[in-house]
Amino acid sequence: MDGNGRWAKKRLLPRMVGHTRGVETVRDVVKQCVELGVEYLTLFAFSSENWRRPPDEVKFLMGLFMEALKREVVKLHQNQIRLVMIGDRSRFDPQLLSAIEEGERLTQNNTRLTLTIAANYGGRWDIQQAMQRMLAANPALVNGFSESDLSEHLSMRYAPEPDLFIRTGGEKRISNFLLWQLAYAELYFTDTLWPDFNEDAFMQAIHSYRQRERRFGRTSEQVSGNA
Ligand code: IPE
Ligand code: MG
Repeated sequence: MDGNGRWAKKRLLPRMVGHTRGVETVRDVVKQCVELGVEYLTLFAFSSENWRRPPDEVKFLMGLFMEALKREVVKLHQNQIRLVMIGDRSRFDPQLLSAIEEGERLTQNNTRLTLTIAANYGGRWDIQQAMQRMLAANPALVNGFSESDLSEHLSMRYAPEPDLFIRTGGEKRISNFLLWQLAYAELYFTDTLWPDFNEDAFMQAIHSYRQRERRFGRTSEQVSGNA
């Protein structure tokens, strides 16, 4: 979700207004996913590098996160949405942390849509922590381990690998998002700024995805059944 700051700047508004509008987009996109039957939506809300932003902005974002949780968790639950947070939790303030845990507990058995919020998340951190936990659980794996030995310990072990990755805001980078899991994801980049990422923009991304041929290393003939 990129482009909140630029969206605000274009309107001569403080960056924070862009972030507030960004939360509206989150709400709309979640709703659309439910309508479309998307089962997993993962949003990169705050990266482990975002702490480098001005302290006021970091504070504002944390406040926004807290407010949104308080306001939305019951609605998520009513709509059978499971909320999960991934990322290094050690840096969050205890109040925010308990709001997150409470939201996760309340919604844990919901199955319609799993909404994962990546906060203080980094793809490299994820692989590192998975490796550490894998070896702690089974030290013999130091002599060799499989992909699934490791992936069982990744933050998103509960979800299938993503089909579609969308980055708004014009940048063409992954920026340390789900590095391991994106190996075969279809990548979609759009100049649309996150607060402008409306239903049409989302449908364009979905249409683009539908036109792709996913070969997973095979030939086109194999995939189309003509081989
Ligand atoms: C993305 O918007 C939101 C967060 C990282 C929280 P930005 O804040 O990165 O917006 P730009 O890139 O400055 O426009
Ligand atoms: Mg940005």
